[in-house]
Amino acid sequence: MVFMNSFYVTTPIYYANSLPHMGHLYTTVVADCLTRYKRQRGYETCFLTGTDEHGLNIARAAARNERTPQEQVDYIVGEMKEMFAAFGLDPEHGGYDIFMRTTEPFHYEGASAFWRRVAAGQTPKGRENIYKDFYEGWFCAPCGTFKTDEELAPAANDSETPKCLIHETPVDRVSEEGYFFRLSDYDEALLELYESRPDFIRPESRRNEIISFVRGGLQDTSISRLRSSVGWAIPVPDDSAHTVYIWFDALINYVTALGWGSEARSAEVGPEKFERFWPGLHIIGKDILRQHAALWPAMLLAAGVELPRAVVAHGMWLDQTGRKGSKTLGNALELSTLRRHYQPDAVRYFLLREMAFGQDCKVDYEVILERANSDLASGLGNLVSRTLTMIRRYFDGVVPSPEISEGRRLQAKRVGVGTDAQDLASTLELVRDQFVQGVEEFAFHRALETVWGMIARVDKFISDAKPWELAKSEEQRETLGAVLYRAAETIRWMALMLYPFMPESARAIWQQLGQDGDVQRLDPTQLQWGGLTEGTRIGEVSPIFPRIDKAKTMAEIEKEFAQRDEKASAGAQSTGADAAHSGTDATPSGAHATQAAVPGSETAAEVKSEAPPMRGATEAEAVTGAPVAPAPAVPEGIATYITIDDFAKVEMRAGEILTAERVPKADKLLRFTVDVGEAQPRQILAGIAQHYEPENLIGRRIVVVSNLQPRKLRGFESQGMVLAASVGDEGRPVLATFTEEVPNGARLK
Ligand code: MSP
Repeated sequence: MVFMNSFYVTTPIYYANSLPHMGHLYTTVVADCLTRYKRQRGYETCFLTGTDEHGLNIARAAARNERTPQEQVDYIVGEMKEMFAAFGLDPEHGGYDIFMRTTEPFHYEGASAFWRRVAAGQTPKGRENIYKDFYEGWFCAPCGTFKTDEELAPAANDSETPKCLIHETPVDRVSEEGYFFRLSDYDEALLELYESRPDFIRPESRRNEIISFVRGGLQDTSISRLRSSVGWAIPVPDDSAHTVYIWFDALINYVTALGWGSEARSAEVGPEKFERFWPGLHIIGKDILRQHAALWPAMLLAAGVELPRAVVAHGMWLDQTGRKGSKTLGNALELSTLRRHYQPDAVRYFLLREMAFGQDCKVDYEVILERANSDLASGLGNLVSRTLTMIRRYFDGVVPSPEISEGRRLQAKRVGVGTDAQDLASTLELVRDQFVQGVEEFAFHRALETVWGMIARVDKFISDAKPWELAKSEEQRETLGAVLYRAAETIRWMALMLYPFMPESARAIWQQLGQDGDVQRLDPTQLQWGGLTEGTRIGEVSPIFPRIDKAKTMAEIEKEFAQRDEKASAGAQSTGADAAHSGTDATPSGAHATQAAVPGSETAAEVKSEAPPMRGATEAEAVTGAPVAPAPAVPEGIATYITIDDFAKVEMRAGEILTAERVPKADKLLRFTVDVGEAQPRQILAGIAQHYEPENLIGRRIVVVSNLQPRKLRGFESQGMVLAASVGDEGRPVLATFTEEVPNGARLK
């Protein structure tokens, strides 16, 4: 059966270990925008997003939060769906069609069928696709991938573990028997694919990157783990001592979602869903390009399933220091903050306009605000409201005629208004064509730039013609009408083009223009000049993009983070000098993280709303992070016993304070650079500013907890914790120090 005009687009399925952030929102907005555009163009669309719910990282996050893995993933999925809905990405707002979850039974069935197909087949070089062997190497749980030595920061000494270069957290040593996929036999087939289908990987730079990666030689890849080490995963078919490696499991979701390999799913989504929509287009971040552009096609070749239409990789959102925004580092912009302070469409617009698709881009809360004010409030919003307000004021809310009669033409010409609108119409056609080309090439920023060029042009046209002056003379009434018609017609074109980018705002503009018809079903390539009918009564006019008060909003955002930081440092005074690391949740409770479960913190309300109660805890316990299980009897003054293994996990080192200064606008925080015997000094923040003068601390020997996950406080990353005694009722911190000579970096045991 041949189906015409279908379009299947996917985002990566996101790890369900922690709440989504702006990076996840971005990919989902890109896919949503493409879907809406294709729908306008008459395609039957299917848009998949979802969650990757297996593996060590999920199991660990669940354990940290005292949840079962299933509770953890259910919780994250609930939050993610709610967040996506807030940005218009859910089915109710015309967004995704499928929210895929890899823990669904049909996916187990489909993934198992896929494994069996691969296991039963042979590589292009005539060998078995899957074989058993021994694996020894490093594994990064947050990445979910095995790491080569080049992908790791080497350990400082033998007793330490190397760290993942992306997440800066220690990796796990894996040494076990398992199944391997013979990826190395697919090198020629893959190179041929890239050669014969130059558009398979986009943009071009990513294609080149993958070609040289594959040319460099592919290694067979481990596709299972021992059930005893990773139990939260799909069992390997016919060998339940092993579980399927999460990437092997996760990639298959793109086809199982459509019913491949499961009759039950096929019946649920319609028996021809797979034939109708596969092959799909994968939108991903460049961080997971190899898995999508090399491993996945090889898996599909091995299983005899058609290859995807294309793999399109975008760049990364970075913080102002140039590091990739991630939950683990605590430097990604939070969706809850974005949602609280900005219009959803303003965020969508920013994401698609600011990032040159394919390249990396720095971001913070302020640049989003600035773009919203300049491009939306002053740009598009102002054009719409001034035009419609004038139609209301001068023509009683009825669209005037574009025509200028013979006798009035000269007068019109004097104020820059031509007899016919041919010039404007041709320019708009050009804009439309460039816009369409931009979207088709995934150059969303360029598409928007083109539209904004048109806004500037029409703004100038209005300013030159000065309708408010024309309105004073009855003789110029036709000219006035022609000016406003031209402006309003241009806005109509723009509303249609901008719908995929800003659906709610485009709809609002459409309605204010008094247009019928469903903007989501009208094809922008069919736009014709003159589609706005004279005599149309325009709708209620109200501002589409209210201006954001920059000083006020930035101060509010600052304050929200400051309150968390202050609470974090206050909390720290009862446990140590640094508040930075007292969070209990899956992610560091950084200034920009959303799950700041700080004991006794005011953010408890926030934690409560974002985190379900821990299992077995009363609500109050869950909120404050108090112990859940009844504590065994312990001597007074000791909170609870830990084992020697627990203690061994804490790495403490002797250090020397090299520099110390106050953190602006944070009464309690000091910022140090500390030499702990490494190549570079570390930056550490401590909540002791009310008890120590920074200049008195330079040269001071201290004790640093050096293996705490880094987190951000007031925009500064704290890469460790300084130890201090907590003295007296008010918990005055007194820094731990040495009275004998100790080299920097010496470990405390
Ligand atoms: N679970 C895997 C994907 C499996 S797909 C079969 C995974 N999950 S993830 O939660 O880590 O999401 C990675 C994706 O999130 C990136 O490819 C990108 O789409 C998005 N982003 C996460 N952080 C990002 C930025 N800082 N910037 C841009 N996109 C980012 O990998």
